[in-house]
Amino acid sequence: MNIWENLPKPFLILAPMEGVTDIMFRQVIAKAGRPDLFFTEFTNVSSYASEKGRWNALERLQVAPTDSPIIAQIWGKNPEHFSECASALASLEFSGVDLNFGCPDKHVNKAGGGAAMINTPELAVACYQNAKQSTNLPVSIKTRLGWASLSEHQTWLPTLLEQHPAALTVHLRTKKEMSKVPAHYELIPGIITLRNQISPQTKLVINGDIRDRAHALELHAKYPKIDGFMIGRGVFQNPYCFTNHTPTCEELMELLKMHLDLYEDHANGFLGGIRSRYEDEATSPVKTGARSVPEKRHSHDPSYEPLKHFFKIYVNNFPGAKDLRAKLMETHSVAEARQILADNLS
Ligand SMILES: Cc1cc2nc3c(=O)[nH]c(=O)nc-3n(C[C@H](O)[C@H](O)[C@H](O)COP(=O)(O)O)c2cc1C
Repeated sequence: MNIWENLPKPFLILAPMEGVTDIMFRQVIAKAGRPDLFFTEFTNVSSYASEKGRWNALERLQVAPTDSPIIAQIWGKNPEHFSECASALASLEFSGVDLNFGCPDKHVNKAGGGAAMINTPELAVACYQNAKQSTNLPVSIKTRLGWASLSEHQTWLPTLLEQHPAALTVHLRTKKEMSKVPAHYELIPGIITLRNQISPQTKLVINGDIRDRAHALELHAKYPKIDGFMIGRGVFQNPYCFTNHTPTCEELMELLKMHLDLYEDHANGFLGGIRSRYEDEATSPVKTGARSVPEKRHSHDPSYEPLKHFFKIYVNNFPGAKDLRAKLMETHSVAEARQILADNLS
């Protein structure tokens, strides 16, 4: 089954966001109101292809039952590593593979990946073709309009469409623009024309500054040929953005408590979970020395600090939110955060 052919029209996607849309946050959003499709954060194909990086890549690719359907997003610049990673993804729980050709991060670009692919179109095509030939899963692409100038989209998007990807997500900005200017909605009609002329079967997904379901439906009424919409930072303003529901303080606190619980579960057993799926060495994706790797090096014990970045999503837009958030930002553990919530919300 090609998942892209089985989505409502228009469909909504939660954008891949490194450090945000991990297995925990996706479960929170599934509870608030799920999109039609999830994406993982991006995973480096060369990390997957190396013995040293594979567990780390697999941890990033772990999914929860509520994630389904979910697309694995990958990045890199080595076509053989795209093959290796794409072929492995078919045996995991994914409905598709997406290639990231748009990330503007300077480390990613220096490594030749993400938006740097816009400057090496032949390599981008080779990576796509290798991924495509290595999996039965549908392969899609997420990119930007160009590296430095808007006019680049007139050659870059056709290069990609000529490969007939299952879907093409266009973040309506150049790499150079980062997210500092409004998304170029004025280019949507031209992009629809390119898709219709070159690869009418490719689903066209528009991304950039879309706030919520109502906003997506408004854009769809204006441009009915768009197949789907991807929402990234809109979820920071309203974790219920896929439903258009305006949450109450109680609902937001339930989501925060759920996130704290999930964080604790993962900090306590995340890696054990993924290793236990590969108890049989013969089927383990890490062939040599997997069991001899010291636990300390690989134990997934992210510090509590990154979790605090999520507090403003939940503790927002209700009376007293600012003071409560300030108190939560002073905490150093889930237990402390729970105590603050108990003291302030009774
Ligand atoms: C914190 C953060 C992390 C991101 N990580 C990724 C990523 O891993 N892969 C990707 O394709 N895009 C990534 N993006 C870009 C988003 O998917 C999206 O294209 C961008 O935020 C524009 O959409 P928006 O205006 O709805 O936020 C990231 C964006 C943010 C804010």
